[in-house]
Amino acid sequence: VNLEFPFSTVDRFITPVPRFFVRNHFPQPEMEASSWRLSIEGEVEHPGELDYEALLALPAREVASLIECAGNGRSLLQPAVKGVPWGMGAVGNAVWTGVPLRDVLERAGVRPGAAEVVLQGADAGAVTQEPETPGVIHYARSLPLAEALRPEVLLAYRMNGDPLRPEHGYPVRALVPGWYGMASVKWLTRVLVTDRPFQGYFQTFDYTRWERDNGLPTLVPLGEIPVKAAISRPAAGERLPAGRDCRIEGAAWAGTAAVARVEVSTDGGQIWSAARLLGEPAPYTWCLWEYAWQLPTHPGPCALLARATDARGRVQPMHRDPDRNTYMINHVIPVKVEVVNGE
Ligand code: MTE
Repeated sequence: VNLEFPFSTVDRFITPVPRFFVRNHFPQPEMEASSWRLSIEGEVEHPGELDYEALLALPAREVASLIECAGNGRSLLQPAVKGVPWGMGAVGNAVWTGVPLRDVLERAGVRPGAAEVVLQGADAGAVTQEPETPGVIHYARSLPLAEALRPEVLLAYRMNGDPLRPEHGYPVRALVPGWYGMASVKWLTRVLVTDRPFQGYFQTFDYTRWERDNGLPTLVPLGEIPVKAAISRPAAGERLPAGRDCRIEGAAWAGTAAVARVEVSTDGGQIWSAARLLGEPAPYTWCLWEYAWQLPTHPGPCALLARATDARGRVQPMHRDPDRNTYMINHVIPVKVEVVNGE
């Protein structure tokens, strides 16, 4: 099941659960909270299991965070690439409730040699695209230990105040705020602490990009979401009456950083003007923005662009970096509209 929502309908900070995109690699597993167990194993002093009641008895925290699929926007790439042909809507913002993974790891006693934490889901299947796997595998991704110990990385059991829906990982999923969605493992049943980097399918064949290391391209797993502004309205292809007022709207986000500003260009990138941020930007979540545009008085095509800068000074790129394979689509993509004689 892979579902997205029309990005042109973004109109609020929190995405209602029924509109939140779904990305499943394998058939959805049947899960019950009463029989759910989380196994904690590997490089820990006290391996063991945690059940749902025991998890809910631990101190919880709430984190507002979006999840974006690493291939969000892929259908806008030219030339076309392989993979789920997402439009712009494989992203959503929610409030998550759960127990910091760190607290569970600390109780288990992480050994000094630990390097990574592998998170494994209950779902499994055979991968049918190239390169194939040696058979049936579980969905699993790892985090470097320092990332796993960030206090906002959760074993989440509520989404927007309600228990997780089955498609979003009921009863418990990982939530890794600021990282692409592949890290937020759903239907979580196993936490394995390892003393070396995990080399699983979704860590090596899938969800990777090239990094130039001393001139040598090296495959590295995807991680943090980079800065991005996306235009929700007007939508591509819209016909707008000349001379009228038009509000350009959208959302911007920047992984573990907050958005600092969004600029808009209505002439294909020659002149840029500041958009108004709606609300206080914060790490992990998006910030909605708007820009009041007086439409030209003459009909003709217009290319609308939006560009965000984060609080660490990183600016959204204007061009696509081919080292990102079919992922991390955050370069500025024009939204082409047509100004027509007013009716
Ligand atoms: N976890 C499991 N167990 N199985 C999966 O297929 N998909 C991942 C991640 N966690 C996946 C998973 C990917 S690629 C994304 S983008 C997010 O879940 C999507 O989360 P959502 O379906 O709740 O929106």
